[in-house]
Amino acid sequence: MIDIHCHILPGIDDGSPDMETSLEMARMAATDGIRTIIATPHLASAEYPKEKLLEALAELNAQIKNHGIPLTILFGAEVQAHIALEAADSFCLAGSSSLLVEFPHSYLPADSEDLIYSLVTNKITPIIAHPERNGQISRELWLLAPLIELGAKTQLTAESITGELGMTAKNCADYLLQKRQVHYIATDSHSPGFRKPILSKAVKQAARIIGKTEAQKLVSGYNILLPPSA
Ligand SMILES: [Fe+2]
Repeated sequence: MIDIHCHILPGIDDGSPDMETSLEMARMAATDGIRTIIATPHLASAEYPKEKLLEALAELNAQIKNHGIPLTILFGAEVQAHIALEAADSFCLAGSSSLLVEFPHSYLPADSEDLIYSLVTNKITPIIAHPERNGQISRELWLLAPLIELGAKTQLTAESITGELGMTAKNCADYLLQKRQVHYIATDSHSPGFRKPILSKAVKQAARIIGKTEAQKLVSGYNILLPPSA
């Protein structure tokens, strides 16, 4: 499995505070069957020095290898919507043309459709992070469909699907799965205990709604990572 949204880089944002915590997250993820994680620290400025993230990424991968954990961490970011257009050149996921975009948590900005349209026109595929935890979308469930029609993809949080983040998020997640408006499931893990780096439980739960094959596709990193060569 591939986790496309995880705050595993040590000491960068409000995710893992140090290498020890990152390694514990890596062990948990690997035990769950996750083999690739895209590290997605919060990004609030398109001017953020990318080199700093790449250095932290290289150090984490080296430590993971030293500890014999079967996991690879790739580069990415969780980009706030207001800087998405400027950040798209440098902060797409794992060298793809997909950009993980974070809208404000309580509402959907009035210019959201314009933003999605602009990104798609610039050949960037926006992946909307955890729409089921957005206050407005969870009340007005129909708001996501026009953004998807414009070309946006969506990423649900694993613990929303399992119900661990409360019934509002779960009800919205179930609705979006039923409507086939979900393209990825990811952990959005911040530590071994805060949104755990575990996908398998959510995949099992999603399979009850959309079937096993479709549920597994949501954690395969399709359209972001190239399939392994034969
Ligand atoms: Fe996140």
